[in-house]
Amino acid sequence: MADTSAYPSLIVVDHPLIRHKLTLLRRHDTPTSMFRMLMKEIGALLTLEATRTLPVEVVGVKTPVCGTQGWQLSEKPLVVPILRAGLGLADGVLSVLSEADVGHIGVYRDEETLHPVEYLVRLPPNVGGRPILVVDPMLATGCSGVHAIDVLIRHGARPESIVFMSLVSAPDGIAAMSLAFPSVRIVTAALDEGLNAQAYIVPGLGDAGDRLYGTLEIT
Ligand code: URA
Repeated sequence: MADTSAYPSLIVVDHPLIRHKLTLLRRHDTPTSMFRMLMKEIGALLTLEATRTLPVEVVGVKTPVCGTQGWQLSEKPLVVPILRAGLGLADGVLSVLSEADVGHIGVYRDEETLHPVEYLVRLPPNVGGRPILVVDPMLATGCSGVHAIDVLIRHGARPESIVFMSLVSAPDGIAAMSLAFPSVRIVTAALDEGLNAQAYIVPGLGDAGDRLYGTLEIT
């Protein structure tokens, strides 16, 4: 595993359950239905760390026994999957954060230039001043993630209110994200070795979108 000490905004959540499920997810022969389930489960587990700094306020609560003090989220969170693979991770996030609104940013990678091409931005009107969780399972070059966060900032989001969540990250992606947005926290399940010539993460898990939706070409 790569050295994480160079990246102060990075949190690698190495919980045994996450390690176990991520190993199954990485396997080349994991079928689509199981891949989808595992991504959702890891997404739910990562959400606990990714939402650790959500602001809360004190409220009164009346139990069947007596009144006491409780807490509630101060602001409605916004979850923003980067299409398409981010949808699989967002399913897991929303399974434990049903309070959130959801925005969508569609970016694909031009296979020749490897640059992000935006094809969809659909966000709620009030993006500013609320906690935002941007989700994309693969933080490879960082181009799509940096692009998505740039879109959110142009819509009023504050970088310090944004958490970027991924399953597998490459040092290049972490470096690009940290350089562009030092105050964006990155929560991931693994920091891998690097990228291959096609900008796939090594060892990674292949194309997350194709594996999630069964669109892998059989050669
Ligand atoms: N996107 C993927 O789906 N997989 C990678 O390894 C890199 C980017």
